[in-house]
Amino acid sequence: MQKFTFVTPGRVSMEWGGATNGHLADEAKRLGSRPLVVAGSSLAKSGILDAILASLHKAGLSPTVHTGVPPEPDLDALQAAMNAAEGADSVIAIGGGSVLDVAKGAAALGGTGHDARAYHSGKVNVPETVSRPILAVPTTAGTGSEATWVGVYTDKEAKRKASIRGGAMMPVTAFLDAELTVSCPPAVTAYSGMDAFVQAVEAYTSIGANPLTDSLSGKATKLISDSVVNAFGAPQSRQPREDMLLGSYLAGVALNTSRLGLVHGLAHPIGAITGAPHGLLCGLLMPAVTRFNAMSDLGNDPIRFMTGMKYDQIASGIIMFAENYMTGLGAETVAKYSERILRMLEIPSRLSEIGLREEHLDAVAKEAMSSGSTKANPRPVTEADARAVLESCL
Ligand SMILES: [Fe+2]
Repeated sequence: MQKFTFVTPGRVSMEWGGATNGHLADEAKRLGSRPLVVAGSSLAKSGILDAILASLHKAGLSPTVHTGVPPEPDLDALQAAMNAAEGADSVIAIGGGSVLDVAKGAAALGGTGHDARAYHSGKVNVPETVSRPILAVPTTAGTGSEATWVGVYTDKEAKRKASIRGGAMMPVTAFLDAELTVSCPPAVTAYSGMDAFVQAVEAYTSIGANPLTDSLSGKATKLISDSVVNAFGAPQSRQPREDMLLGSYLAGVALNTSRLGLVHGLAHPIGAITGAPHGLLCGLLMPAVTRFNAMSDLGNDPIRFMTGMKYDQIASGIIMFAENYMTGLGAETVAKYSERILRMLEIPSRLSEIGLREEHLDAVAKEAMSSGSTKANPRPVTEADARAVLESCL
C-alpha cells in the first residue's frame, strides 16, 4: 500500500547554452517583470552574469541584482537577500547550492514580517503559497537545490546548521544549462559531484522512497556514477557535464519527497563545526555509512530485504565494478566504489584532515539524531551507532 505526496518544480527546461541565448529570459518573462537576480560571484567575474542581464533587459524586464552569497551560507546572508527581494515580483537564482538556497529563502520569506532567525529556529512556518515565483538555474551539479523546497543555513552563534523548508520555496521553473557548469573549479566539480552521488543513493535507499522517487533516483545513480569522474577529469567535455546536471536534478526531485539518510544527518553538524564543504563531507562519510547500512543477514524484515536489493541494483549499474559484482554484496561494492572515486577526485578520507576532533564526536552524534535525514536512513540509527560511524572516519 502506498501513501505519499510528490512535489516537484512545475516546469523544467534543459538546453546547452540556454542561459545566454535568450531562452532563460523567455522563461523569466513568464514569472514577473521585476525579478531579483541572485547570482554567484564567479558568474559576475566571468561576464556571464552581464550577458544574462543584457538578455533580461532585451526581453523588457527590469532586474535588480544581489551577489556576495558566501559558501555554506549563514543567517546574515539569508537576511540580506530577503531584504533585497522585498521590491521584486520574482527571483532568478543562478549559482551553486548556496546561492540557490539563499535565493529560495529570499523569495519565500522576504517581506513576510519575520526575520531569518524566526524561520530557522522553527518558531514560524514557511508560507505554503508562492508569493514570488522562483526560476532556479544551477551552475554546479550539484545539490539538486533547483528541484527542492529546502534550504540549508548555518546559525553561526549557535553553531547549528539546519534546513528551512516549505511550499513557497519550491522553484516554479528549473532551468538546466550544463554549459554553466564547465567553468567550475575542479574541487567544486568534485565536491558537488559527490554530493549528487550520495543524494541519489540516499534518496533511493531511504525509508521514504516510493515508486516515483525510485524511478528518478535509480536513474540518477546510474547517470552520476557513469559521469562523475569524467566531469572532473575532462572538464570541457559536454556529455559528462550534461549527465551530471541531469542526474543531480533527478536526485533533487527524488529527495524532496523521499528524504535522505545518515550521511546527510552527520554532514550538517560536522559542517557547522568545521566549515568544510558539504559535498566533501558527504563523500568522506559515504563508505562508512554504506557499510553501516550493509545487511549481511537480510532476515525477514521487508525494509532490510528491500535495502539490500537496492544496494545490489545500484552496484550492478556501476560500470567499473560490474565484472566483480555478486548479488548480496551490493552495499560493499558501493562502499568500495565510493572509496575509489574519492581518491580519483582527491577528496580527503579522514575527518581529522578537515579539523574534526575526538572531543566533537558526542555533540555531532547527538545533533545528528534530530535530523530528518537520519530518521529516513534505511537502518535505524542510535546515538551510539552515529558516534561509532564518526569514530571509524576520524
Ligand atoms: Fe547534500
